[in-house]
Amino acid sequence: MTTRIPATLIPGDGIGPEIVDATLAALDALGAPFEWDTQIAGLEGVKVANDPLPPATLDSIRRTRLALKGPLETPSGGGYRSSNVRLREAFQLYANLRPARTLVPGGRFDNIDLVVVRENLEGLYIGHEHYVQIDDDPHAVAMATGINTRAGCRHILDFAFRHAIATGRKKVTIVHKANIMKALTGIFKETAEQMYEQTYKGRIAMDTVIVDACAMKLVLDPWQFDVLVTTNLFGDILSDLVAGLVGGLGMAPGANIGADAAIFEAVHGSAPDIAGLGKANPTALLLAAAMMLDHVGRSDLATRLRQAIDATLNVDQVRTGDLGGRAGTRAFTQALVARLQG
Ligand code: NAI
Repeated sequence: MTTRIPATLIPGDGIGPEIVDATLAALDALGAPFEWDTQIAGLEGVKVANDPLPPATLDSIRRTRLALKGPLETPSGGGYRSSNVRLREAFQLYANLRPARTLVPGGRFDNIDLVVVRENLEGLYIGHEHYVQIDDDPHAVAMATGINTRAGCRHILDFAFRHAIATGRKKVTIVHKANIMKALTGIFKETAEQMYEQTYKGRIAMDTVIVDACAMKLVLDPWQFDVLVTTNLFGDILSDLVAGLVGGLGMAPGANIGADAAIFEAVHGSAPDIAGLGKANPTALLLAAAMMLDHVGRSDLATRLRQAIDATLNVDQVRTGDLGGRAGTRAFTQALVARLQG
């Protein structure tokens, strides 16, 4: 009998429960070995437990060290802090892994197969910001501090090189802005070059590119890249750009990985405009579940899941509305499950 793997399941807000149900149906059909502990967070956490990240949810992830998470709603401006950011901090999930692969051919860019590795905890996203008042203008000056540490750079770069080599990739591109932010992103480039010389030279290719040129090149000729690794802010922007190359956020999975836990999710949000209507595309969360299977050493099941998604979209031509199709979440899921059982 297969050993069961304990994992935390957070259905999340908006379309979360719908796409989580679809994903569970596919994982069941696949015979995936997860033993779920269902927990709440986000708006659902506030409604039920008056806390967007209840202690029981944190305890569950502390125990399982593995989670599949639906999108969590975060109020803009005021309100509570993003539960996603709190989860990253609580479990020191330093690596954000965002693969982008063409699944539906015939779009603006075909045959895309890229991975963006983003540093998740440091840089300009640490929240050290303030305003300075001058005369009667309380917002006369805005200031932000970015912090990148040698240890943080080493963590993420080592992760990127190891991941690239383990998955048979050819090249790692270091994305920086060391010509202007000489210290803040210079440390990242310098650490990468040292690490490459000492540890990875001869095992994989490496090059460096300035972030603005990288954005242009990704649009003109994305096929020249393979794995991109970069600091927090640049990674946030480039990973959405790369998701756009393969048809948008509905197709983009993400993994947040740390030394002590790993949390898998769709990149998109809770889509309140279509919540409860049965229209949501579950593909991004399904692909996140495939990454989770890879993570626990069940790449056999991950490959079967990816192949079944591919066949459902491209052979059966069953697609949700965001991809120009007519299927709802349920019909898409039924077609996928039939593929998995066939
Ligand atoms: P969103 O990604 O939820 O929606 C943007 C647009 O894409 C909407 O028109 C939506 O209908 C569509 N869409 C998104 N996912 C889809 C899917 N699977 N199938 C079909 N259409 C889909 O972004 P938005 O509206 O900016 O954010 C809504 C909420 O989600 C906010 O509270 C935000 O904070 C939260 N959010 C949570 C994330 C997470 O938990 N990882 C990530 C991004 C946003």
